[in-house]
Amino acid sequence: MDTAMKAVIDRGAFILGQEVRDFEVEYAQYCGVARAVGLDNGTSALELILRALGVGPGDEVIVPAMTFVATASAVSMVGAKPVLVDIDPKTDCMDMHAALAAVNDRTRAVIPVHLYGFPAPIGPLLSAAHGKFQVIEDCCQAHGAKVGSRRVGSMGVAGAFSFYPAKNLGCFGDGGMAITDEPGVADRIVMLRNYGERKKYEHMELAYNRRLDTVQAAVLKVKLPRLDDWNTDRRRVAAAYRIALAGTGLVLPPDAAAGDEHVHYMYAVRTKRREGLQAHLKAANIETGIHYPYPLHLLPVFEDLGYREGSFPASEALARETLSLPMFPGMTDGEVGRVATAIKAFGQAG
Ligand SMILES: Cc1ncc(COP(=O)(O)O)c(C=O)c1O
Repeated sequence: MDTAMKAVIDRGAFILGQEVRDFEVEYAQYCGVARAVGLDNGTSALELILRALGVGPGDEVIVPAMTFVATASAVSMVGAKPVLVDIDPKTDCMDMHAALAAVNDRTRAVIPVHLYGFPAPIGPLLSAAHGKFQVIEDCCQAHGAKVGSRRVGSMGVAGAFSFYPAKNLGCFGDGGMAITDEPGVADRIVMLRNYGERKKYEHMELAYNRRLDTVQAAVLKVKLPRLDDWNTDRRRVAAAYRIALAGTGLVLPPDAAAGDEHVHYMYAVRTKRREGLQAHLKAANIETGIHYPYPLHLLPVFEDLGYREGSFPASEALARETLSLPMFPGMTDGEVGRVATAIKAFGQAG
C-alpha cells in the first residue's frame, strides 16, 4: 500500500486519477456488474443512486427500521419519504413480506440492507419489483457476500458500498462506490459526483463534489484481491465462536442459507443482559460495540415520520439486545477462546 500510495504522490493526479478508473473496473468485475462509480462515501452512493433514478419529493422509499441511519437519511436528503418496515429476527435484515405489504402507488424504491454482512434474501422483492419499484441494495456492511452465485449489489438495479476503514474492504479514510448494470444510471452518477459536469465546465444540473480520492483507490486496489480470503477467515472465526459460545445462553447470529455466503462484518450476538455483559467484557479488556442502540423510528431525526415505540417490535428488541463481539480476519482461536471464557465467567448471559 505504501508503494501504491507513493505512485499516486509521484504522479500527482490526486483527483479522478488512473487508480480510480482501474479500481472501478476491478470492483465492477468483482461484483459481477457492468459499471462501478467511485464516490466519497457510502451515504453518497445511496443518495446519488436515488437521484440518478429520479427519486424525489412525493416518492416513498421502503427501508428497514434497524440499520445505520444513512440508509434512511439518504432517502430524506433527496426529498423522498422513508417508509420503515420491521426486520425479520431470523436474519436481522428487512422483513421482505412486510416490505411488500408496504408497497403502494407512491413507492419508487425498496432498500434492503445486508446487515452485519448477512446476505439478505431479497428474491421475493426482486420478483415483485418488475416495473413497480426499484430495488437498491445497501451493501455497506457486506462486501463480497453472496446470495447463491450472485454478489450482493448485483441483484437490484444498483448497490451502494462504503469503504469506511473498519469495513470488510476499507480504505485509509472515507470512500464509497455505486455499482449498477444500467449504463444510464452509472453515467448520471458520474455527472452527479462531479458538480453535475458533462464536459469540463459544462454543468448540467446542481450537484456537489462526491468523488473517490485517487490515493484511496490505490489502497483499495491493493486490498481487493485479498477480500475473499479475509471474508473466508471471518467465516472461520464465526464458526469458532459458534462452538466456543455454545451453552452460554447468548443468541448467536444466524447462518446464511445453504449456498449463500455471509461475510460477518459484525459478530452480533443477542443478550437480555447486554449492559452488564458489555461492562464485564470491558473490564477484561475486551472491546465490544452496539450496532445500533436505537432503531431509526426512535431517533430524533426521524421523529416527524410519525412512528412511536412499539411500531417495530423486532427492531426494538434487536436494538435493546444486540452486542458486537470482536471480529476480524486473523483473529486466532485463542482470542475467540478468551472472549468465550470471559463471557462464561459472567454467567448465563441469555
Ligand atoms: C448500512 C450502512 N449504510 C450506509 C452507510 C454509510 O456509509 P458511509 O459511512 O461511508 O457514508 C453505512 C456506514 O457505516 C452503513 O453501515
